[in-house]
Amino acid sequence: MPSMNETKPPQIIAIANQKGGVGKTTTALNLAAGLSEMGNRVLLVDIDPQGNSSTGLGVRPENRKLTSYDLIVDGVALTDVVTATTNKTIWIIPANADMASVDLDIIANEKRSFLLRDALRQPSIKTFKLDYILIDCPPSLSLLTVNALVACDSVLVPLQCEFFALEGLSQLMLTLRDVRRSANPTLRIEGIVLTMHDSRNKLSAQVEADARATMGALVLKTVIPRNVRISEAPSHGLSVLSYDTLSRGALAYRALSCEIAARYASPRTEKV
Ligand SMILES: Nc1ncnc2c1ncn2[C@@H]1O[C@H](COP(=O)(O)OP(=O)(O)OP(=O)(O)O)[C@@H](O)[C@H]1O
Ligand SMILES: [Mg+2]
Repeated sequence: MPSMNETKPPQIIAIANQKGGVGKTTTALNLAAGLSEMGNRVLLVDIDPQGNSSTGLGVRPENRKLTSYDLIVDGVALTDVVTATTNKTIWIIPANADMASVDLDIIANEKRSFLLRDALRQPSIKTFKLDYILIDCPPSLSLLTVNALVACDSVLVPLQCEFFALEGLSQLMLTLRDVRRSANPTLRIEGIVLTMHDSRNKLSAQVEADARATMGALVLKTVIPRNVRISEAPSHGLSVLSYDTLSRGALAYRALSCEIAARYASPRTEKV
């Protein structure tokens, strides 16, 4: 399938949840792979000081010469920070520990919430003919995450199927409302994706039922199972789709990619 379009701007999806370890990076990497498999050109923007997406795409720390820090804080040109990966239709703007100080470094800048948005709007972005830009956020509601929420069209929220999963979601929803009011009125929720679902565990079923009861249609149909192949894949620098192409994890992330890509034929308009 050819790239969806050459003139429309790419869909920008931030992957955010201030809770740590819920599957943000895993979803960013495998959604990028799934969308790419469908013929899309995808840029993954890593803004987490942990740099896990960068590692997962095989960009070693010593090769992260220019990072999203340089893009956001120092205004380095987009074309200088976008890095090719072994997948011809996936690019990354890597991150490293420099990112940890970014909130302090931009706090005095009056455009502090708009830096990533403006950086991604550079006309040179067109040269990559991107269909999607995915932003892998850090586990916080910091200024850095706000930059992602201001820069994006929609936010995808991974929710781990465990006790306390729904706690913190209301705080995230309040942040989304603030960002809508102040800086990005058209910000949508792409959906909530349940992750690490264990069908043998009653708790997973309970979390799923609670989430669907309280969040309704915002919860995506696709549920990502807990699957060891998903956790093994990044250490090989691969997505689970390439690492074990018929594993349950690969099938789930393919289904998620299809579910999300289908939206863009009929975009959703949910508001909180
Ligand atoms: N579906 C899954 N099955 C099994 N393991 C998973 C699954 N999803 C994620 N993991 C594992 O759980 C851990 C946390 O996942 P991940 O790094 O994607 O979360 P995160 O939200 O990005 O974390 P952080 O908040 O620290 O950035 C990782 O070790 C990952 O391999
Ligand atoms: Mg992460």
